[in-house]
Amino acid sequence: MTEKYWEIPDNQLALQIEKLFKIYNDKVKNIALNDISLNVPVGSIFGLLGPNGAGKSTLINIISGSVLKTSGKVRVWGLDIDKYRKQSKLAVGVVPQELNIDAFFTPKETLNLHSGMFNVPKVSWRTDELLELMDLTDKAETYSRKLSGGMRRRLLVAKAMVHSPPIVILDEPTAGVDVELRQKLWNYFKKLNKLGVTIVLTTHYLEEAEFLCDHIAIINKGKIIANETKKSLLSKSNQKVIFITLTNDKITKKDKECLKDINNIKILKNKVKIYFDPKHISMNKIMETIYKTDLKILDLSTKDIRLEEIFVNLIKDN
Ligand SMILES: Nc1ncnc2c1ncn2[C@@H]1O[C@H](COP(=O)(O)OP(=O)(O)O)[C@@H](O)[C@H]1O
Ligand SMILES: [Mg+2]
Repeated sequence: MTEKYWEIPDNQLALQIEKLFKIYNDKVKNIALNDISLNVPVGSIFGLLGPNGAGKSTLINIISGSVLKTSGKVRVWGLDIDKYRKQSKLAVGVVPQELNIDAFFTPKETLNLHSGMFNVPKVSWRTDELLELMDLTDKAETYSRKLSGGMRRRLLVAKAMVHSPPIVILDEPTAGVDVELRQKLWNYFKKLNKLGVTIVLTTHYLEEAEFLCDHIAIINKGKIIANETKKSLLSKSNQKVIFITLTNDKITKKDKECLKDINNIKILKNKVKIYFDPKHISMNKIMETIYKTDLKILDLSTKDIRLEEIFVNLIKDN
């Protein structure tokens, strides 16, 4: 869909970021990005995951050219943003977090207008194709103010695509969107990616990154604290976790002593969480240890450690 317009960079990197700093100088100096380096492979769905205030929006706004960096190098589709400001801007389509829809235009008008703004020659306008892609064909002539939240977001994605950028950046694309609609939007993003578009998205929803992304970078306080394929990130931890709920919230000193044999254990009132790697300690051994205590178990369940646990542990340690 985009290859015919944009030749793939030799190094197969959609984004190259090196030693990027952003310091906002308000009343106090705020280091929003603190020495960020990362590469986004062509064709990936790359998730930039991090808590609020981590620096996600700052990073993507620098990439898309709406915020100036303090220092560092950024290449967008091989183009250095300092040398090729205009062209590098054309290589990305941005879907902002806010639903900034022109309420008095129809989706069709919105896309036509936007194509004109990007100086796309009229013969190359993709309005109908993009409406079709985002399932908005039957809403083409409806005033945008009448569109539902999900349709508006899809329209924003279409709008980001009018100039056929090889990279689409979505800033918190499903923030405040209910679970069912989120799932539907994810499928649209996957569809777009299958057409060859590299997708970078920021999110603070772990399930979103886990479901959608093939690469995940975790950013915290302006620093990258993890950056790898989802598979490798998830495999970092073979851990499982046992959740135990006790009938009362009294864990005696003696019980705690007994449990010391199990390394990674967290106790909060009447909840006990035991992290373990089945390769190193068996479930059986753990249960034996628990039976030696006087703990009264109300409920017990186990779960594989998913991204959430890895994330929480990483954020905590940094
Ligand atoms: N325009 C700005 N002026 C000053 N500080 C800002 C500005 N935008 C963001 N910040 C600060 O930079 C840090 C990172 O913010 P942001 O990039 O919005 O994080 P995120 O998108 O991960 O929530 C925060 O401390 C935020 O307060
Ligand atoms: Mg943000």
